[in-house]
Amino acid sequence: MKEFKTSQNCKVLTLKKLTILSNIMERIALITPGGDAPGINSAIGTIIHLTRNDKIELIGINDGYKGLIDVDFCEMKGITYSWLMGVSGTILHCERMHSFKEEKVLKKASKILKNKGIEGLIVIGGNGSFKGALDLFKFSRIPTVAIPATIDNDIYGTDETIGFDTACNTALEAINRIKDTAVSFERIFLVEVMGRDRGFIALEVGIASGAEAVLIPEVEPPLEEIAKGLKRARLRGNTNAIIVAAEGVSKRREIAKFFEDKTGAEVRVSVLGYIQRGGSPTRRSRMLGVEFASYAYEILKESPTRPKMVGLQSGEIVTMDLEKSIQGYKEIDIEKYKLHRKLSNIY
Ligand code: F6P
Repeated sequence: MKEFKTSQNCKVLTLKKLTILSNIMERIALITPGGDAPGINSAIGTIIHLTRNDKIELIGINDGYKGLIDVDFCEMKGITYSWLMGVSGTILHCERMHSFKEEKVLKKASKILKNKGIEGLIVIGGNGSFKGALDLFKFSRIPTVAIPATIDNDIYGTDETIGFDTACNTALEAINRIKDTAVSFERIFLVEVMGRDRGFIALEVGIASGAEAVLIPEVEPPLEEIAKGLKRARLRGNTNAIIVAAEGVSKRREIAKFFEDKTGAEVRVSVLGYIQRGGSPTRRSRMLGVEFASYAYEILKESPTRPKMVGLQSGEIVTMDLEKSIQGYKEIDIEKYKLHRKLSNIY
């Protein structure tokens, strides 16, 4: 009986071991469809290193989904983790491919991946990249894990995305400089930060820079109230002001003109633009890149049957269904917005 049990256990163990062995991936691919965000290369470097340790072949797909269709693949040998940590952008390049939702395009992409023997896919990017990954999976059924990276920080299911911290710090540094001119000329500056549809950068930067007002697409801007507050502040001797506006707020130039008319002050618009996407990643963006990537890689090795994404929730790195993330809407923190109102001297 004892013997039987032992041999039975052995058999079970051997079978289990064999199953795990047969599940070990030999070749996975990595893609960064876009846009770039500081810290993506830290994630890439992490995956290069971990796959190298595990002797899993890592194929890089250049130029996002367009490169996949064009079979623009590269081996990722000879690239060092330590070099990648401090470099922004993405060494795999990115390109937006709007047709990457059409059935014939997705079928072609799926066939290319299968012909290449790709057994797992890691996608690093924002909402558009995630949608592409989910659509592709419907045809390829290749295990897929997504890593949230966008300076906009607008992905549902994660408190923070790779690159957000660096972009905020870059904007803050720029605003410090603009403030020097604002003080000297006693001007009001409307500083536009990135965020095509959302106000995450604007809100964070508005609070951290001590801006007088923050304009975000999620809240109807109380323009009259702000104008009155700015005028009152000027009469009290606060003759300069910074208004941080998200790119997604429409009619920013008209708003600046409105403030000029109402306050009698000179109002200038300064668009920070793409400088926010570049620059050496901060410690936080690098660490998010490293931690997201190492977790995503572990999840991928388990061959998930549904596409997953990794994220940060209350300080913990977590995983959730990619589809859930795509369907969700990340709310702006209204309490933070209210806090800014309390801190500003114009309300
Ligand atoms: O990465 C996000 C973002 O920076 C948005 O805030 C911005 O509107 C957009 O990308 C612009 O990117 P592109 O010009 O590369 O499409």
